[in-house]
Amino acid sequence: MRRRSRIPVSAISFYLPQFDMVITALFLLVAFMAIVLVKHCLLWQPMDVSYLYQNGYLKFGHRGSSMLAPENTLTSFLKAVEQGVNTIEVDVLLTKDGKVVCSHNHDLESETDGYGYIDEKMYEELKEVDAGVKFPEYSPCRIPLLEEVFDIVPEDIIVDIEIKSKWAFDLRTAKYVAEIIRERNLYHRVLVSSFHPFVIGRIKWIDKRIPTAYLWEDQHVPNILKKPRFINLVHPDMLHPDVYFVDKNLIRFAQRKGLRIHPWTVNNQPAIEWLLKLGADGIFSDFPGLMNRAVEKIGGSNETA
Ligand code: G3P
Ligand code: MG
Repeated sequence: MRRRSRIPVSAISFYLPQFDMVITALFLLVAFMAIVLVKHCLLWQPMDVSYLYQNGYLKFGHRGSSMLAPENTLTSFLKAVEQGVNTIEVDVLLTKDGKVVCSHNHDLESETDGYGYIDEKMYEELKEVDAGVKFPEYSPCRIPLLEEVFDIVPEDIIVDIEIKSKWAFDLRTAKYVAEIIRERNLYHRVLVSSFHPFVIGRIKWIDKRIPTAYLWEDQHVPNILKKPRFINLVHPDMLHPDVYFVDKNLIRFAQRKGLRIHPWTVNNQPAIEWLLKLGADGIFSDFPGLMNRAVEKIGGSNETA
C-alpha cells in the first residue's frame, strides 16, 4: 500500500511565518491607503481667497464683453472693464511654440478668418489672423497673448484664466500659465479655472499660491463628475457650476466646505439677483450692465478699488 505523502513539519514552520508576513504587509498597505484616501477626501481646506472679495461680489465679464466686441480680445476685455466689471474671464490655450493665447475655440474657423487649429500654429502665424470678423467695427483685431491682457487691463481687475485643453491629460498649458503668474507676481489678482480636474491638480502641484476654480458642466461629462462630492478628490478653492446645477443645496454644500461659488453664464437680471441672494459669491454674464443693476438692487457694492 502506498503511503500518503505528508508535508514535513519543518516545511510548515518555514512557510507559516512568511504567509503571516505577507498578510500583515497587505493589511498595513490597505490601512495606509484607506488613511491616505480618507485624509485626501475629508481633511482638506480650500485656500483663503477672501482678499479677492474686497469690493464685494465678483462680476465676471464672460470672455470680456462678448456681446459688444469680439470675444477674448483686448477690445472685449477693455469694454467689460468700461462697463464696470471687477473680473474678466479669459479662455486660454497653447500655440505650437508654447505661447499662451486667448481663445475659446481650438479651431480658428469659429471666430476668425483663419483656418486650422491653434495648437498646430506658431504664434507668428496667428498674428495674421483677424479675430474681429463678427464685429466689422473692430476688424482687424488680433488674438492676444495672455500676457498682453495684464499689460492693458487695470491692476485692480481680477483675471479668471480658464485653461482650455483638448485632452484631460494635456497639462502643458497649466505649466506655462503658472509661469506667467509667477514671473509677473499676479497671485493677488488671478484665479485659474478648468473643466479638467487634472489641470486644477497640476496648477496646485506647481504652485499652491494660485487659487483654482473647478468648472462644472451638465453636458459631455461622466455622471461621477456631476456629483458635488467629486470635488473632494479635486480640491479646488472655488466652484464654477453651470447655472443649471445651482440650487440651495449646492450653495450650502459649497459654503459648508468654505468654497466660493460663481455660477455661469447668467444673462437675466432676476436670475442674477436670485443667485446672489441665495449665497453665490459672484456671477458670470455676457452683459456686465445686468450684473451691476442686480448687485445694486440687492444692496451690494459696485465700486472697484
Ligand atoms: O468659465 C465659465 C465659462 O466660460 C465656461 O464655459 O465654454 O464659455 O468657456 P465656456
Ligand atoms: Mg470660458
